[in-house]
Amino acid sequence: MTAVSHLYVHVPFCAHRCGYCDFVTVSGRRGQHEAYVDALLAELELERSRLAAALDTVYLGGGTPTFAEPRPLERLLRSLPPAAEVTVEANPETVTPALVALLRRVGVTRVSLGAQSFEPRLLAVLERRAGADDVRRAFARLRDGGFDNVSLDLLYGIPGQSAADLERDLGCALALAPEHVSCYELEAKPGTRFTHAHGAELARQADSTEGYFELVVETLTAAGYRWYETSSFCLDGRRSRHNLATWLGRDYLGLGVGAVSTVAGLRWRNRPGLAAYLRSLDAGRLPPRELEPISQVTRRVERLMLGLRLDEPLRLADVEGAYDAGALARLERLGLLERLGDRVRLTARGRFLGGGATVELLAEMPANELVVSG
Ligand SMILES: C[S@@+](CC[C@H](N)C(=O)[O-])C[C@H]1O[C@@H](n2cnc3c(N)ncnc32)[C@H](O)[C@@H]1O
Ligand code: SF4
Repeated sequence: MTAVSHLYVHVPFCAHRCGYCDFVTVSGRRGQHEAYVDALLAELELERSRLAAALDTVYLGGGTPTFAEPRPLERLLRSLPPAAEVTVEANPETVTPALVALLRRVGVTRVSLGAQSFEPRLLAVLERRAGADDVRRAFARLRDGGFDNVSLDLLYGIPGQSAADLERDLGCALALAPEHVSCYELEAKPGTRFTHAHGAELARQADSTEGYFELVVETLTAAGYRWYETSSFCLDGRRSRHNLATWLGRDYLGLGVGAVSTVAGLRWRNRPGLAAYLRSLDAGRLPPRELEPISQVTRRVERLMLGLRLDEPLRLADVEGAYDAGALARLERLGLLERLGDRVRLTARGRFLGGGATVELLAEMPANELVVSG
């Protein structure tokens, strides 16, 4: 079995819950941060044999990892295996000089800063704690502390947002000259408080998203960023190695409540309940999980769907049987896909269709079985 060289670690704590958020998070719980790190490190020990001696990437995501109390956060980062790229997600209002110093001394190489927008009216709709000045201050502190690999997250399709608002947000982001920008279309889950509050406006935004997407790509590529993945842009040599590994279908181990792992043809997801996670690991047991065997066919379908998000061409031999050859020829004729020897990639027009061209390409596949354990 090949050892895994990509590690994701989930930290669920946040100061509060933003209305649009669907990640596994809990508010506050300062008294539980030490216990949670104990549990993460216990899970790491139980799974360590799967990991390579030297990791390529570690990604600490959330939640808000930088909301965690400094002592357990430092203990966690010091105890994780070293890696060539170590990313930490940070919310702007948590980026104090002390936090920056902590991240530097434990070997973090990359910070992903959740700006979302610079427009006060839109930040209020999103129920964000940080304002535009907090984002700028956080960015300056990271630079002062020596971070030369910073990513900014932005959202588009926010209720009340216009194309001019988005243009301004992109301008504000570019003014900071981050090495990487992720720009996501806002997803709002049906039935949530956020969807109830903004339903009509969300529907109006949905009609504009194609134009927003084009505006994002045109603005960022004109500024010299490489559009290397559907929602991701970077300066030369600054792709997210961790995210790239998942888009390329590499195995990864996920630790923490709600975390997903894919290793050697098996996928598992730790259940999202924090109390059960802490209880199991305190008793020396793996946490409750859902297991899903990934067949060869499913692997290839996923490889195709994720691989076509990238500007890097995909080897057809790696997705044999997952695509419909007739559809491939049709997409090529329509100028949505191009062949480069034994590889293919979507053209800019194909990529603007979001997943549309990829869905067209997929051959009919049997569904995976879901097995529940724990
Ligand atoms: C795991 S989240 C959390 C990061 C951090 N706590 C924050 O809020 O900035 C990482 C990124 O996912 C994106 N995101 C979160 N909720 C989203 C949603 N409902 N639709 C689209 N993107 C979302 C945001 O851009 C966010 O920065
Ligand atoms: S801070 Fe980030 S992870 Fe936490 S609730 Fe808000 S969007 Fe979700």
